[in-house]
Amino acid sequence: MIKLSYDIKNYRKDLAELIKPGDTVIELGCHLGGTTRLIHKDANVIAIDNSPEAIGEMSCIENVLFISGDVRLHEIIRKVYEIEQKCDVLAIDLGGGYHPDTVFKVFYIWSSTFKPTHTVIRNRGILEFFNSAFSSGEDIKSESGYLDSYHDSGIPPLIKEFELWTPSLKKE
Ligand SMILES: C[S@@+](CC[C@H](N)C(=O)[O-])C[C@H]1O[C@@H](n2cnc3c(N)ncnc32)[C@H](O)[C@@H]1O
Repeated sequence: MIKLSYDIKNYRKDLAELIKPGDTVIELGCHLGGTTRLIHKDANVIAIDNSPEAIGEMSCIENVLFISGDVRLHEIIRKVYEIEQKCDVLAIDLGGGYHPDTVFKVFYIWSSTFKPTHTVIRNRGILEFFNSAFSSGEDIKSESGYLDSYHDSGIPPLIKEFELWTPSLKKE
């Protein structure tokens, strides 16, 4: 299942409903662990964030492996892949108003790599697109937390598109 929200209360509620005891959760954009602290008792969490503030706050939460890094980068995906090759739940909150194009790309790459049963995304633009689009009626959909269409794409060797889409990735 893929769940979308903008309000952080709904994001947290969706995660609480979907995570089962013993699940492996990959959380992208944990910040100071507001959501992590609600889910870590029942799950093994790998939490990733590139904010320097997250480092001290996240390093001492039980059942949580924190990785400081940019989730758009191949080296970070590979680092996580060396620890876990599959997850039950993928949670993505890079900031509710954050670029929907980047968030979708992050969703696509992480979900096609770790094949989650469920993905929960917090992003206003993606939710707005989903709520506004009308389908042609073709029955193309996935029951899982990743897109069946891209099931076997694997980890791309380099995620060069991000350089075009996300100016903040470029060093000044
Ligand atoms: C709104 S906060 C997340 C709040 C958190 N989910 C919670 O429940 O408290 C968004 C976080 O995404 C992180 N973030 C944004 N872009 C990122 C990226 N490319 N790689 C890693 N973290 C990123 C930011 O550093 C920030 O901490």
